[in-house]
Amino acid sequence: MIGIIGAMEVEVEQLLGNMQETGSKAVSGVCFHEGTMAGVQCVVAQCGIGKVAAAVCTQTMILLYHPQVILCEGVAGGIGKDVHIGDLVVATSLVQHDMDSSALGDPVGFISALQKVQMPVPSQTVALIADCAQDVYEGHVCKGVIATGDQFIANNDKLHQLAADFGAVACEMEGGSIAQVCCMAGVDYAVLRSISDNGDNDAAVDFPTFAAESAHKNTALLLAVLPKL
Ligand code: ADE
Repeated sequence: MIGIIGAMEVEVEQLLGNMQETGSKAVSGVCFHEGTMAGVQCVVAQCGIGKVAAAVCTQTMILLYHPQVILCEGVAGGIGKDVHIGDLVVATSLVQHDMDSSALGDPVGFISALQKVQMPVPSQTVALIADCAQDVYEGHVCKGVIATGDQFIANNDKLHQLAADFGAVACEMEGGSIAQVCCMAGVDYAVLRSISDNGDNDAAVDFPTFAAESAHKNTALLLAVLPKL
């Protein structure tokens, strides 16, 4: 069983259209769609936006379905001049940029439950997704750190800070939360994100313009990845 989580309707609608759904369960305010995709048993959920919604969904999915791996997919803001709208970012690791107990001497992003900042994705999983993407994804494929926080980033100064603090190449609002829950439960995870905006002063205009087109690019990639996991 493979779990797939997207935050917004636009991030799951096309996937659900490709699923042979056999049932569903509504628990903790989240609907879990059960079935097969590309011949693989899956559960797909729309968690809602932000770290708490993502954590509730992830923990519930783990307890209900015991997935071997959870994939977080959707759109993200690109960081840096090499990451453009329509590109794919496969996370090599996740951070929570708004977790900050630095006043107490911890590094910014330090997660006390895990005693670390960076939550890495196994390099074989990153390579598997990136290799599939080379074949099926229409756009540049990039690997790197994804920074998660309860903030839609639309500010050049904040972007530079995320790059400086964490070496982040993309920002979004769920991946680092899903990673933490998976780390705590001992479940594998991966995060793949199509770029919908550049997290800059134009992001509020770019996001609604490109979110659907970018989000839908993940469908073909996931259908190719699922049988290989
Ligand atoms: N998801 C897509 N674009 C984003 C941005 N700029 N900030 C946070 N999450 C996003």
